[in-house]
Amino acid sequence: MSMKSHLIIAGNWKQNHGPRQTRTFVSEWKSLNYQGKNQILIFPPALCAQALADALVQANGIEWGLQNSWTKKAGAFTGENSLTVAKEMGARWSLIGHSERRSLFGETDSQVRQKVEFALGEGLRPMICIGETLQEREAGQTYQVLGRQISEAIKDIKTEAFQNAPLVIAYEPVWAIGTGVVASPDQVKEAHAWIHNFLNQQGQTSHQILYGGSVKADNAQQLAAIPFVNGFLVGGASLEAKQFFQIAKAGE
Ligand code: PGA
Repeated sequence: MSMKSHLIIAGNWKQNHGPRQTRTFVSEWKSLNYQGKNQILIFPPALCAQALADALVQANGIEWGLQNSWTKKAGAFTGENSLTVAKEMGARWSLIGHSERRSLFGETDSQVRQKVEFALGEGLRPMICIGETLQEREAGQTYQVLGRQISEAIKDIKTEAFQNAPLVIAYEPVWAIGTGVVASPDQVKEAHAWIHNFLNQQGQTSHQILYGGSVKADNAQQLAAIPFVNGFLVGGASLEAKQFFQIAKAGE
C-alpha cells in the first residue's frame, strides 16, 4: 500500500504519565479539536489504560493499545499484561517488538512472532517495530537485520490476515530513538522503499510503514512527504497534547 490516504500517528508514552496526566492530555487534546483524517493512536502505560479508555469516550477517532503484552489470554504469568483484557477495555492495537523491549527486556524474534499471532487471533492490530542499531548500520548490516526482523515476525502468518486492515510496520532506527538524531530524509527514503519492496516480495502487499525516532513537530511535515512513509511512531513528542497535535496534522 503506497498511497497516502491517511497516515497513522501513534504516540508511545513508554513508562511516562499516570492516570491524572492521562486525563489532562485527553482534555487538552479534545480542546484542540482535531478534525483531520489521520488515524491517531496512543500506547499508554498499562496502568493508565483504564484512565485513557474512560477519558477517550467522545474523543472520536483516537484508538489505543498496549505497549507490551503476553501471548496467553490468562494464567500464571506474574507481572504480564493480558491483551484479552485490554481488548475488553477497548484496545484495538498491540505494539510489538519495540527496540526497548528487545534490548532491555530480551524480547526475541520468536516472541515477537508469537505476539503478532496472538494479537491477530484476538482481533487486534499488531504494530511491529523493527530497526537496526548504530553498530549494525555502520557494519553495513541494516537490511540484513530489517529483513530478518520482518521475516521472523510474520513467518507463516497468512497474507489474508492483513486484507482488511493492513500490516503495520514501524521502522525505528535504534540510534534515532530518544536521541534527537532523526534519520536523514535520504536514509528514511531508502529504508522505507526497501521495506516496501521486501514486504511485497513476501506477498504482504497490504501494508503501512511508519517511521519512528525523534519525530517532532518541526520535522514531521518533511518526513511525511517521503514515499512509503505512512505515518509515525512518536515517543517523547507524544507526551504533551499540543506537540502531538502538531505532528498529528502531518501530511494533511
Ligand atoms: P522518540 O521515541 O520519538 O522519543 O525518539 C520513538 C519510539 O521509541 O517509539
